[in-house]
Amino acid sequence: MAAAPKKDLSEADSRALNAFVTGFTAATACADSFGRHVDDDAALCVAESFLGFEIGNEGATDVCKAKFDLDDDDTDRDRIKHVGVVILGLGSVGRAVLKIIQGNSAMYKAGLGCGFVIIGVADSTAMVCAQRSLRDGIPSMELNRLVASKAAGTPLKQWASTPPKASDASDSSTSIVPATVLLPQSSGSDSLEQLLRSADDCGAFSCVCVADCSASSETVDSLVLAKKCFGSAIVLANKKPLSGPYASTFQRLRSCGCGPKGLLHESTVGAGLPVISTLERLIYGGDRVLKVEGALSGTLGYLMTRLGEGIRFSDALAEAIAKGFTEPDPRDDLSGMDVARKALIVARLLGVKAEMSDISVESLYPQAMAPAKLSLADFMKQLPTLDSAMATRVADAKRIGQKLRYVASIVMGDSLDASSSRSPILRVGLQEVPQESALGTLAGTENMVCYTTAFYRPQPLVIRGFGAGVEVTASGVVADLAQAALRFCIT
Ligand SMILES: NC(=O)c1ccc[n+]([C@@H]2O[C@H](COP(=O)([O-])OP(=O)(O)OC[C@H]3O[C@@H](n4cnc5c(N)ncnc54)[C@H](OP(=O)(O)O)[C@@H]3O)[C@@H](O)[C@H]2O)c1
Repeated sequence: MAAAPKKDLSEADSRALNAFVTGFTAATACADSFGRHVDDDAALCVAESFLGFEIGNEGATDVCKAKFDLDDDDTDRDRIKHVGVVILGLGSVGRAVLKIIQGNSAMYKAGLGCGFVIIGVADSTAMVCAQRSLRDGIPSMELNRLVASKAAGTPLKQWASTPPKASDASDSSTSIVPATVLLPQSSGSDSLEQLLRSADDCGAFSCVCVADCSASSETVDSLVLAKKCFGSAIVLANKKPLSGPYASTFQRLRSCGCGPKGLLHESTVGAGLPVISTLERLIYGGDRVLKVEGALSGTLGYLMTRLGEGIRFSDALAEAIAKGFTEPDPRDDLSGMDVARKALIVARLLGVKAEMSDISVESLYPQAMAPAKLSLADFMKQLPTLDSAMATRVADAKRIGQKLRYVASIVMGDSLDASSSRSPILRVGLQEVPQESALGTLAGTENMVCYTTAFYRPQPLVIRGFGAGVEVTASGVVADLAQAALRFCIT
């Protein structure tokens, strides 16, 4: 609702509200939209939308709840399990995660028997925590305001001082904790630690999940603390906590607390595509993965498709930028490092204790054109100098009936003998693939992962679909939260 002056509910307002809520159409529509459950926030939201102003006094919620004649909140609270959720990172993915959770609460209650309660959200500047009642979480109206303010570019640190909350700090149902303390536990005043301790103390949650939707390499200590000391489940869209040095990131995060079962990270590879869960099923099903080949970048997939159609490299990249497919500096895509991080995560899940330096990564631009040496504007000016070499690669592939693709490949060795010594080959770069192969038929921004295994060969098991984008990534994160709830809360 647009910001409007806060005022108390008068008797006339109360009567009007009563009449509104009694109205059959309104009641049916509102009740349905809340899945026949109106909680305090939802009721207040209905009341305020109808009245057109924010209500300062008590009463409206009761009017709505009584008139809707729906579940009593406390009965409902006892009936379902509550999962506390903390979201680190309120960029496009973090905000979309909140939207999905808020929009599907009735489905989670009915389908999983659990309710997700947002108890804290953080960006790089601050963490906002539920304060008035941790068990109820941050009220949805407050979350909506916060998300809108973040989408408009206001850092969380400043959000506290922006209207409408500024004037009424004492009435605030959330608190702000500076986020510098999202860094190591050794700071002694970790905001996440404080929040998880309070969540533990209040005893309202069957489990607490921390979802890392940041792009930071500095969250790993906080995540380890949450998993190890508080038994929180960790869900990641952020690849960095799993793709840094093996021992201090991947191994440490997986092995602490309740081990791998408390760590879910489907969205780190292929966004919402079931790449990780399929791999885990193959492994736990007793299969033996021999080779993984993947096209794991929508941007590079688009470029390869356009190059195959005869478009110049520089023109294809300009198109990709215009369509919004690239990072702000496209060299982040062209360097292959993002694909290499995904390949490293998959290789590590296969038991390879690899470091990034073990992967051969082919960049699509020379080091002389790297960000440290060339501004973005100069890079774009010099880009056409790469056109002819790239055109030659495409033509060479075509001449032998193949297509050029940017492929991550993990070759575990051909032997099916588990005792044989394996020397995995990890490579990320341009590769000629047969036109009729799965990777050869891939077009546009879709991702693909092909698992060649003892059971799936010579034809591999193929996963294909959109492997990037805010909605599919956020959907993968929320599906992981639901999995965590199933593993930890629902008995
Ligand atoms: N977008 C996609 O299609 C996609 C697909 C797969 C995976 N992912 C991954 O999902 C993650 C989020 O992507 P995005 O597109 O939403 O990124 P984004 O828009 O850049 O948002 C990142 C958010 O993380 C916050 N942040 C940075 N350091 C933090 C810290 N130490 N603690 C808490 N929050 C911190 C940032 O804060 P400020 O707002 O203060 O800067 C920002 O809100 C990334 O790791 C990305 O690689 C994205």
